[in-house]
Amino acid sequence: MSNIELVERMGLNSVKYEKVDPRMSGDILRMSVAEMDYQVCPQVRDALIKRIETGFLGYGRPYPSLYQVIADWYNTHYQMTLNPNHFITTPSVNVAVALSILATTKPKDKIILHTPVYMPLAKAITENDREWVKSPLKLVDTHYEVDFELLGEQMKDASAILLCSPHNPTGMVFSKEDLVKIVEMSRANHVQIISDEIHADWTYCPFTSVQTLDENAIVILSASKTFNLQSFQTSFTHIEQMDIRQKFQKILDGFQYKALNSLAYLAIETAYIHGDEWLKKHKGYTFNNMLLIKNQLQKSNVKVIENDSLFMMWLDFSNIYTDVAQLEEALIEVNLAVNTSTMFAESRPMIRINVATDTQTVMEAVRRISHMPKVMYEVD
Ligand SMILES: Cc1ncc(COP(=O)(O)O)c(C=O)c1O
Repeated sequence: MSNIELVERMGLNSVKYEKVDPRMSGDILRMSVAEMDYQVCPQVRDALIKRIETGFLGYGRPYPSLYQVIADWYNTHYQMTLNPNHFITTPSVNVAVALSILATTKPKDKIILHTPVYMPLAKAITENDREWVKSPLKLVDTHYEVDFELLGEQMKDASAILLCSPHNPTGMVFSKEDLVKIVEMSRANHVQIISDEIHADWTYCPFTSVQTLDENAIVILSASKTFNLQSFQTSFTHIEQMDIRQKFQKILDGFQYKALNSLAYLAIETAYIHGDEWLKKHKGYTFNNMLLIKNQLQKSNVKVIENDSLFMMWLDFSNIYTDVAQLEEALIEVNLAVNTSTMFAESRPMIRINVATDTQTVMEAVRRISHMPKVMYEVD
């Protein structure tokens, strides 16, 4: 599996490589931001090169065939029934989440969102003058579960629930049974479901989209994580209900957003048409990196959280450090750049480590973790 090609990101103005904790210096291992070190799918690269060679970098538009291609991908892979006419092209997923909130709720309304959390989702709530109702996922031994008793209470006076499905940072995939319960509760309480499904294609078990259970759920889809195309900052929001779709569109019109990114549309369409093999290959490679971490850290006092999705892992250091400050000090000592739990509104000392890189780097990460103060690691 060594025919995985990486991109040397240093010097390319990459956030992942060039924005690290200023307390670190020297030989830093960079395993933070949610993008892969892998080279993009060759067909995407070739299509972009060919386009750039024409010299045409003018305005483009999302042609109808693109919506059909996206609908086909999700309908085929996850049995969703997406209507190509019901997509709205949106800027990044984070913006699409904020727009969905604006289109379906009022100022001061309560919106449920699980913790730990990918913070921009929470900010899309609070910075739009809505109330974030925190719904902590339950950590049971080494996996997370939805706290349905709490959720039942919270649903009673909420206007919306924002799902991060699959869940970042825990890697939890909502089971079909979980989603059925969430849909029943939200119907009973007239709560709108908004689902950020950006990580759907990085699942290692059957994935159910909430859209298959509730066609009125707003789903936000993106090729960005699937194919490592983060810089295009383009997503597709599927809204079945006409009144909400019109309201959403009106808000976008207010910003005069015209979705004219021709390179994004070319890359995204090419990726959905030709990228399946690339995705399978890179998921397989990443999965092996995850197994390596699991096997190695089993020999230590670091707890590996079971994950069924993402190209990142969520590791628990609460047996070792009392707080995140201590954990951060330890990471600085070994020059390991990862995301710590404070970034995810979690007070337990934990890290999210990105393993979408070569296996050598993952081995080096294990070595560095084993050298963190107070980490106990038994070498075979
Ligand atoms: C759950 C989730 N939603 C949204 C995003 C950001 O997507 P975009 O760059 O399209 O805003 C990320 C990026 O890590 C993410 O993990």
